[in-house]
Amino acid sequence: MAKPILVANWKNHPNSLSETMVLLREIAKSAKLYKKLSLFVAPPFTYFESVSERLGNFGQLASQNISSLSPGNYTGQVTPDILKSFGTKLSIIGHSERRGFGETSEHIAKKIKTALHCSIIPLVCIGEMSRDPDGEYFEFLRDELKSSLAGLNPKTDISKLMLAYEPVWAIGKHAQDAITPANLSQSVIFIKKVLTDMFNRVVAEHVPILYGGSVEPANIGPLFSETGIKGFLVGHASLNAKSLKAIAESLISK
Ligand code: PGA
Repeated sequence: MAKPILVANWKNHPNSLSETMVLLREIAKSAKLYKKLSLFVAPPFTYFESVSERLGNFGQLASQNISSLSPGNYTGQVTPDILKSFGTKLSIIGHSERRGFGETSEHIAKKIKTALHCSIIPLVCIGEMSRDPDGEYFEFLRDELKSSLAGLNPKTDISKLMLAYEPVWAIGKHAQDAITPANLSQSVIFIKKVLTDMFNRVVAEHVPILYGGSVEPANIGPLFSETGIKGFLVGHASLNAKSLKAIAESLISK
């Protein structure tokens, strides 16, 4: 069976390189545990070198974004060739916080192609802003998925990407505010149905679906064992070595 996937999204934390080094030292103490998973760490760009050095053989470097630009003159942009030069293996694409800055599904579709072209795994984020009693958010989810994955080839492209279902209303809170396992299973089934309609059943079963949004040691167990989820995209809890370790322990105990 494939290893559970754990992606640590550090966003714009820690505040300094010295704090980052302290966190990495703590995390590295559980290196043996992390080798039983596919662990990816997505730090701020400024810490890439230090993080990639210290992840050694128990984790891989990920980016929180990828530019769809080719090498050239673009002030303030980090181009994919730079990401590659640090050994980036995965890029989070279309996170709701980036969509909040105006990134559209069209931008996201381009970024997915760029990542694939550079042999970087695209981790494509989708998720509704809020839920309504009539289930209209399913329509939103379908549209977002369809427009983000537009133009991809089911044979050569889709088999190389991963999806992260991150309902926006569940991000950045606490375990009790996250999605319930029952609602998560429903969303997973729905996403697979849309993938089947867009591509085919084999694709729908093959694409790993991760969950993100207030994942903590307190809720990871049922969210993993009862839902068909293959791993997690974890924000705040991944910035605490103890919580990250507890999450990893839960993942390998299933
Ligand atoms: P959270 O963040 O775990 O802090 O909710 C998840 C994310 O935004 O990817």
